[in-house]
Amino acid sequence: MSLQIGPYQLPSRLLLAPMAGITDRPYRDMCRRYGAGLTVSEMLTSDPSLLYSRKTQLRLVQEDEPLPRSAQIVGTEPEVMARAAQFNIENGANIIDINMGCPAKKVCNKAAGSALMRDTDLVKRILSSIINAVEAPVTLKIRTGWATSSKNAVVIAQIAEDQGVACLSVHGRSRSQAFTGFSEYETIRQIKQTIDIPVIANGDINNAEDAQFIFNYTGADGLMLGRITHGQPWIFKEINDRLSNVCTDHFLINAKTESLTNNISLQEKIETTLSHINAIHRYYGTDQGVRIARKHIGWYLYNLVGHDQILLKKLKKELFTIADASQQLEQLDKALQQI
Ligand SMILES: Cc1cc2nc3c(=O)[nH]c(=O)nc-3n(C[C@H](O)[C@H](O)[C@H](O)COP(=O)(O)O)c2cc1C
Repeated sequence: MSLQIGPYQLPSRLLLAPMAGITDRPYRDMCRRYGAGLTVSEMLTSDPSLLYSRKTQLRLVQEDEPLPRSAQIVGTEPEVMARAAQFNIENGANIIDINMGCPAKKVCNKAAGSALMRDTDLVKRILSSIINAVEAPVTLKIRTGWATSSKNAVVIAQIAEDQGVACLSVHGRSRSQAFTGFSEYETIRQIKQTIDIPVIANGDINNAEDAQFIFNYTGADGLMLGRITHGQPWIFKEINDRLSNVCTDHFLINAKTESLTNNISLQEKIETTLSHINAIHRYYGTDQGVRIARKHIGWYLYNLVGHDQILLKKLKKELFTIADASQQLEQLDKALQQI
């Protein structure tokens, strides 16, 4: 049995979580290279006045990305969101993902993101408006509820299924938890037992052991990885390999990764790091690219030399002050050869 979203059969049950400011085109490419079954664009505003800004244009899925290309939208008004969905389809998206999971204040002040979960009637109207506006499959990302004391994810999941949502991702925290505490998986398990559309479990899946437990416990059709992918896109391969070996239900469907060996060598990790930073420079241009690259460099260094805190600190200090893109790449290369 494969993981299917509308007409698209995904190559793996392990998906990349949408993360604003992070899951840009270079990031999505790296994660796909290591076997992410689906990646989603960074959340896009539904505000019509912003649809043609440079920021939005860079956030759109790109025509030369592999299919299916999923674009996430956020908003409050059903008709405005439907138009934003159409705009993304016209610009190359094959799947529309609706964000009802974001706890960020600037989104919630406008009652968007996870704030929508408080208003089930509005949820219904938004889903129906978007689903009627586009032929592409529409997916939904939610939390367990607005507050830990008022979890209504199961109700929202039923509404989603009734309205025709093709796949539901659930972050196992309530909106009030933001990113504190821990994800729980009981609500996701209940959702899986209640609805028949594919359910994706998300939240604090940090290694292959977590993945195996959460996959089995929830019965979810797939898993979504967020923060743990920072600076280590190869984690998709590590978890996919482990779960395809141990799960009776075939986990990895037919993902092809560029790694030839099961154990990814340090040299390959270094090459991936350099290739990602180079791709950031090319995508944003060198001025913006050099600044955006810094956080990724920090994450890669943490993963590659985190065991040596003194070296980590030294390398960060050297690399974070560089303002020139080629110098940044050159110095990073030199630094990584010291490992
Ligand atoms: C920096 C950051 C940005 C995020 N942006 C989005 C977003 O734009 N849309 C969304 O649905 N979720 C967003 N999320 C939530 C993640 O998709 C995911 O649900 C959450 O991080 C939990 O998964 P994890 O524990 O694997 O990180 C964001 C999370 C982080 C850390």
